[in-house]
Amino acid sequence: MKNTLSPSLLAVDFTHIADQVKTVEEAGAHWLHLDVMDGCFVPNISFGPPVIQSIRGITDLTFDVHLMIEDPIRYVDAFKKAGADLLTFHAEAAPDIPAMIAAVKAAGLKCGISVNPGTPIERVYPYISDVDMVLVMSVEPGFGGQKFMPIALEKIAQLKDAAKDTRPDLLIEVDGGINSENVSRVLAAGANVIVAGSAVFSGDIASNVETFLKLLDEDK
Ligand code: DX5
Ligand code: ZN
Repeated sequence: MKNTLSPSLLAVDFTHIADQVKTVEEAGAHWLHLDVMDGCFVPNISFGPPVIQSIRGITDLTFDVHLMIEDPIRYVDAFKKAGADLLTFHAEAAPDIPAMIAAVKAAGLKCGISVNPGTPIERVYPYISDVDMVLVMSVEPGFGGQKFMPIALEKIAQLKDAAKDTRPDLLIEVDGGINSENVSRVLAAGANVIVAGSAVFSGDIASNVETFLKLLDEDK
């Protein structure tokens, strides 16, 4: 299965969104990771459907929307209308996980479920056959630019093993503190979707994307 790069918009220069999104797209990034924060589930507020809808107009990248919001089922339709392709919610934030998965699928979107660094990976096992993707957080959600937490590597490997018979095609995304130094370890553990914010959007964006893509291709 081909590995996917999903640059996180949280680290973009917001005065140059259009240019920088075009740059990552033209450099060959596959998806765009959009971090939605509500100031309740996480201690930060980012952006919501209107901003995503505006950006939808300037790119064909797959929109990988990461909901860090309480009771996310309330907003499934809003994010669908805004142009999301894949909607990932937190297991810790959804009071009724099966209902949330059903709502995302009914909206015609791909569905991901995520766990924080402190939440055991076993928490998602009951849903492995129902979702398209599991997002393993490698930082406490809420802020970009944090340090990668190695606990994520064990969780990825455990998840990969748990899914190998029933869901060999499961997407395993990792998010937080990933850079060109540690990405190969993350891939070797079993991840196949890599989120990177500050490591993509600082310095030479196109060359950062190219470096990541090369490392993603090397992992077989
Ligand atoms: C953190 C977000 C991440 C963040 C990653 O809550 O979910 O997507 O933007 O940024 P870096 O790659 O800088 O850790
Ligand atoms: Zn994220």
